[in-house]
Amino acid sequence: MVPGRFNTIVERKKVSSLKIGFFDSGLGGITVLSEALRRLPNENFVYMADTLHVPYGTKTPQEVLGYVKASVQMILKEDIKALVIACNTATSIAAAELRKEYKFPIIGMEPAVKPAVEMNRTNGKRVLVLATPLTLKQSGYAALVSRVDDHGSVDSLPLPELVQYCEQLNFDRTELCNYFSHKLSSFNLDIYGTVVLGCTHYPFYKEILRELLPSHIQLIDGSQGTVRRLKQVLSERNLLASPIKTGQTQEGHVTFRCTSQDKAYVHKMERALEIYAEHEKIYF
Ligand code: DGL
Repeated sequence: MVPGRFNTIVERKKVSSLKIGFFDSGLGGITVLSEALRRLPNENFVYMADTLHVPYGTKTPQEVLGYVKASVQMILKEDIKALVIACNTATSIAAAELRKEYKFPIIGMEPAVKPAVEMNRTNGKRVLVLATPLTLKQSGYAALVSRVDDHGSVDSLPLPELVQYCEQLNFDRTELCNYFSHKLSSFNLDIYGTVVLGCTHYPFYKEILRELLPSHIQLIDGSQGTVRRLKQVLSERNLLASPIKTGQTQEGHVTFRCTSQDKAYVHKMERALEIYAEHEKIYF
């Protein structure tokens, strides 16, 4: 889509027939999509995974910027009214550039450090941010922490392997417990009050983490805040789909796409959404 064409398209198409675009390197953004399906039941969505290049978290910023731009071009083959970059890594690298290029609303994600620091303001506990190596290396992350953390109470831990486990839909308890125990072995967990899941793939493992972490530790991720912001932006721009009329049963529909055009992966995305939605219903 060329800059400036957005308003004309919105005028031409009925707002309700336009989709909300979701983008991630792989399956991670499904944890955010699941929240959007619950909070915005009248909307239709298109979800794009960059299967040609997942994972992003271990690549260079230049590589990721190119991959994100190319993937967004592919999403634009669908008519979208807004784009959610359901990926902390892609947001930190590409959101600013994309906003310069496109007129439609672009909602990005960043690790939920601010609410985590707020939660521990009075109890003296620390915050542990789990994210990809690339997110944690970005100057934007350092700037976010120094903006919200005036007591130096935030630590971070990159978990690149967790993205791979997720891409394989590997939920093997023993393997995952060993993995987390090994990664967390050098941390004294008693001094932490909140663990931030700063990569959208990680909430698939909330339940396992919940079991492993001491019960006083709260787990947070950015999906609720992101969907709240999406709803607010759509509402401000009069882009929310109208409520379904009484008697109609249509629910938000998701079209899954991936950059490798791989049918098996499309099936995997549908399966991942089912697994996550079920998991959320049971545990949270
Ligand atoms: N899901 C992504 C994030 O939120 C990226 C994971 C990856 O591709 O390494 O950071």
